[in-house]
Amino acid sequence: MPLTRKAYRAAILHSLADPAEVGVEASYEYFEDGLLVIENGRISALGHASDLLPRLPADIDITHYQDALITPGLIDTHIHLPQTGMVGAYGEQLLDWLNTYTFPCESQFADTAHAEEVADIFIKELLRNGTTTALVFGSVHPQSVNAFFEAAEKLDLRMIAGKVMMDRNAPDYLTDTAESSYQQSKALIERWHGKGRLHYAVTPRFAPTSTPEQLALAGQLLGEYPDLYMQTHISENKQEIEWVKALFPERDGYLDVYDHYKLLGERSVFAHGVHLCNEECARLAETGSAVAFCPTSNLFLGSGLFNLPMAEKHKLNVGLGTDIGGGTSFSLLQTLNEAYKVMQLQGARLSPFKSLYLATLGGARALRLEDRIGTLQPGTDADFIVLDYNATPLLSYRLKQANNIAETLFVLMTLGDDRTVLQTYAAGQLVHQL
Ligand code: GUN
Ligand code: ZN
Repeated sequence: MPLTRKAYRAAILHSLADPAEVGVEASYEYFEDGLLVIENGRISALGHASDLLPRLPADIDITHYQDALITPGLIDTHIHLPQTGMVGAYGEQLLDWLNTYTFPCESQFADTAHAEEVADIFIKELLRNGTTTALVFGSVHPQSVNAFFEAAEKLDLRMIAGKVMMDRNAPDYLTDTAESSYQQSKALIERWHGKGRLHYAVTPRFAPTSTPEQLALAGQLLGEYPDLYMQTHISENKQEIEWVKALFPERDGYLDVYDHYKLLGERSVFAHGVHLCNEECARLAETGSAVAFCPTSNLFLGSGLFNLPMAEKHKLNVGLGTDIGGGTSFSLLQTLNEAYKVMQLQGARLSPFKSLYLATLGGARALRLEDRIGTLQPGTDADFIVLDYNATPLLSYRLKQANNIAETLFVLMTLGDDRTVLQTYAAGQLVHQL
């Protein structure tokens, strides 16, 4: 295959490290007039345009953007494909919300044609919002995951997903059994895990909807294949936590249920964790597990305020999640807008560079993919986005008053949304254009 080399010239910004660990200034790299060079789906060079241009062939194809910022593609560490059709469901908190809206909506995925239709809408929506990697819950039906991976594979996206395992405390039409969930997950792993840029996540919905037998088999699967992911929910809602205590009286709290069944580890992502205690944060950090912070969902479902400073104190890996359909936006920019307010309500600050980190490199670290995505370091996958400073009249006017990249970034995260994402590239290919 001939070498395909292309370059993109614009303001360019990416994270280098967690500001909580190295301080804000050392946490990012910014090129006011930068150049990003892509070869065969990977980044081959990044730097100041004035440094790189003389070293490139005169005939190289360069796309030059005015009033735009290139960043890594955004990473959503918690989202539900089969809840695309129920975003913004009125009036309930978690447990009633699941019964009233979520389970009936997810039941439609028994129909393969429906699964394929929604997978298409869902992936388009991710890309429209600049999300290039997501950790995705399917429904209990294997066809939801097949439809998702088939669509993701066509675009060579780096995606992680799994079929929900759920064998109790849900309607009969939506439950599997411990054994069938094991067999179906295994078949999906064999088909998809490690294919192209796709990865499989063992997906017990949450402790209340799995029997001890099912949780044990989920843990067994993780031991049977290398580098599998595990995703579930934890400590999102106070009623939910009491329910887990009643269902598993022999265990020492919610996290201990998952710990007992060997579900903690370096590729395990626990959604929410709003009500985790210090000891649980320490145990999650010790095992290399990660938490997905889902601010729009936590506010919309009235779940509570995630304590990011506590997670930082324990050096716990945290990614950002939209949690569609408990969350209300596919946009990680809008998710950061709400994250900032969640911190404000706790008397804490979320700096724009910490926000950038959460939506990119922090998410990549939570998923143990920082050598592939989440930055623009040469050698990594060419998954990046172009944000348009003139996306709306207000954004355009407001950004003219910004004095530096910190202010620009913060305004982009506060006012920005899908309209701000001019283009999305995955493995060097244009996969969304406004
Ligand atoms: N806990 C168990 N299932 C779900 C779900 O679908 N969404 C959210 N937000 N929490 C859950
Ligand atoms: Zn969720």
